[in-house]
Amino acid sequence: MKVDLLFPTPLWTFDDCGIDLNNLAQFCQQVKDEDERGRTASNDGGWQSWDFVPQVMEQKHMPLHDVYEYLTTIAYSACDDWGYQKYRLKMTNLWININQKGNFNHLHTHPGCQLSGVFYVKVPPCCSGELKFVRDMKDQCLKEAWGCSENFDHHEREYNNIERYVTPEENKALLFPAWLMHSVDRSASDDDRISLSFNFNVYSEHYVKNGIYPSQEPTRQTLPLSLM
Ligand SMILES: [Fe+2]
Repeated sequence: MKVDLLFPTPLWTFDDCGIDLNNLAQFCQQVKDEDERGRTASNDGGWQSWDFVPQVMEQKHMPLHDVYEYLTTIAYSACDDWGYQKYRLKMTNLWININQKGNFNHLHTHPGCQLSGVFYVKVPPCCSGELKFVRDMKDQCLKEAWGCSENFDHHEREYNNIERYVTPEENKALLFPAWLMHSVDRSASDDDRISLSFNFNVYSEHYVKNGIYPSQEPTRQTLPLSLM
């Protein structure tokens, strides 16, 4: 017997990204101090900033500049691997998350873009909440007929996995399709966990060549896959 995994879902991981985390953590805290209210989106408790846009992060003196450039570079690597050709990327938005003990993020997707991700700025040594990816429910609803779901292997065979966990680590970036459902488990740590979330749009070179969008061609760099 032979089994093929027909439609796997990519999750791109970049370890040891080399970003100066101290300055970044300080900046995130400063943004929070200046706007304690922030906004509420998928977060239950915790603090989330309003969006930063590329026009702001492209400024060299801006504390998010280096991480913005880095995330754009690895996003190109991921999209090359994904199979996009003759394309350009544009980060649409980036925001800061600061979760404290008891905080978590509800299950959600990132509508309106193709590629989403998270970068971990500050991660307590233990129990600050794992990132959970969840499979589309329609697959499982059909497969798990009444009486079958308790007697079903969900974990050992990849084609039956319904959820996958990733442990946050400092200076790690994760990229994934924007429509992949995900949530963050409740933090049990006494320390803050700081992360950046962001979205990218992929668009055809046609738009660049014809001056439709955007007006300036962004820098295009990639990392070799061996460095991911
Ligand atoms: Fe998210």
